Amino acid sequence: MNSKDQNVLVCTFGKEVHEGLTSFPKYLSSKFFYDEVGDKLFQQIMDLPEYYLTNAEYDIFQLHKTNIIQSFDFNKNGFDLVELGAGDGKKTKVILNELLDQKYPVIYHPIDISENAINGLVKNLALELPDLNVKGQIGEYFEVLDRLQHISDRKKVIMVLGSNIGNLLHPRAIQFLKKLNGVMHPDDLVFIGFDQKKHPQKVLDAYNDQSGVTAAFNKNVLTRINKELGGNFNLDAFIHWEVYDPESGTAKSYLVSTKKQTVDIDCLSLQVHFEAWESVHTEISQKYDDDTVKWLAEESGFEITGSFTDDNKYYKNYVFKKSE
Ligand code: AVJ
Repeated sequence: MNSKDQNVLVCTFGKEVHEGLTSFPKYLSSKFFYDEVGDKLFQQIMDLPEYYLTNAEYDIFQLHKTNIIQSFDFNKNGFDLVELGAGDGKKTKVILNELLDQKYPVIYHPIDISENAINGLVKNLALELPDLNVKGQIGEYFEVLDRLQHISDRKKVIMVLGSNIGNLLHPRAIQFLKKLNGVMHPDDLVFIGFDQKKHPQKVLDAYNDQSGVTAAFNKNVLTRINKELGGNFNLDAFIHWEVYDPESGTAKSYLVSTKKQTVDIDCLSLQVHFEAWESVHTEISQKYDDDTVKWLAEESGFEITGSFTDDNKYYKNYVFKKSE
């Protein structure tokens, strides 16, 4: 990323922090969790015994890889694999390996908001899968879509894994899917993971782990404000709090101020007052069922043409095509 892009990012960060912390109730976007420290913490989250999502999706890839690839490209004409939010690519490697084994002429386009993640992944793939054609890109979800249609002339399969869409409330998810739909060619496909509704305790545990990694991850947004915007948040004066509403399927993360306090954010010339037990909403992690996914797909101009789940039915990947 060049320094101009860096500045734009720092600016939106400051602007949105200002907006969120002067609102009532207060909020900060979960997209700000992911700096170098945040990436590492998320990596640790994916290794937690409580965080079932990653393993469930990995199992789906292992169990169904042959059928998944068939569903992408029945006639074996070849395609490009675009992954939005690629991260460390651990799950995708299962498919990539299989494609290489079948001598498939695939080009892999991993895209991630984190420059770290992309650089790491590209390096790692050069070592692990030297025969694979990789074209990494850095970019944010919505913004990246504009570039997507110019990525190649070949059929594209666009993967959105990890239930990343769960960070968006339904109206924003539809906005995202519609925009995705708009840049797709008629025979392009979406392969997208939706974490499923399940025992509420299982969901709560996933976002409130014993070892406190998720709490540290949540608080990383405060660390970033301290580092990048000259803030003086005392991390010990906030607790991580998770709630799950089994009706809406929405898990929500908060940072709760344990006392009345004032925080200075020098770069924003801002003083933020917290009442005792006042909250800052930081993330939603939406859980779904088939009806909700079908509704989201139809609202965005898609048709579901296939789905794959794990043995526990914790998680589900769906294939979307543009409806005619
Ligand atoms: C990467 C957005 C799918 O919401 O489950 C993990 C992020 N937050 N633990 C999720 C996250 C807290 C994760 N997503």
